Amino acid sequence: MSDQKQAQQLSTEVTNEIDAWRAKFPAEQQRSAVLAALHAVQHHDGYVSTGAMDAVADYLSMDKLSVYEVGSFYSMFELQPVGRHMVSMCNNISCMLRGADKLVAHVENKLGIKLGETTADQRITLKMEEECLAACVGGPMMAVDGHYHEDLTVEKLDQILDALD
Ligand code: FES
Repeated sequence: MSDQKQAQQLSTEVTNEIDAWRAKFPAEQQRSAVLAALHAVQHHDGYVSTGAMDAVADYLSMDKLSVYEVGSFYSMFELQPVGRHMVSMCNNISCMLRGADKLVAHVENKLGIKLGETTADQRITLKMEEECLAACVGGPMMAVDGHYHEDLTVEKLDQILDALD
């Protein structure tokens, strides 16, 4: 965790969401709400800071290390600030066989950034995807803010990216 470590309070919006999830689990298994809690933080803040993970740990009476382990294990959690839109291009085997590498090169060139980077105007983060996004039949594909776009072509890709604010 290299981000700024600072005390952080969870917003009421986030604690309400966590409480809704806690209610689904037995009293002795409240820590089961940790994934939902981190999702709520990311939805609210755009990413999950170390300070927020500490606050989640306190809220769920968990040790901080356990929350860090969950936050850093799943690639869906962003641990650093990201752009307004998250573009995840799948370049795993099925998508690669259908030309994903050329599309990734096109997007990097178009946005002037590499995978894992964010545009200077904070508009788009091009996420480095290490895993198949489980839509192989529609490859090459990408997820934009969690929404899947399949059977991509350069033209389709440009149209989708140009429409992002
Ligand atoms: S390899 Fe791209 S979705 Fe599976």
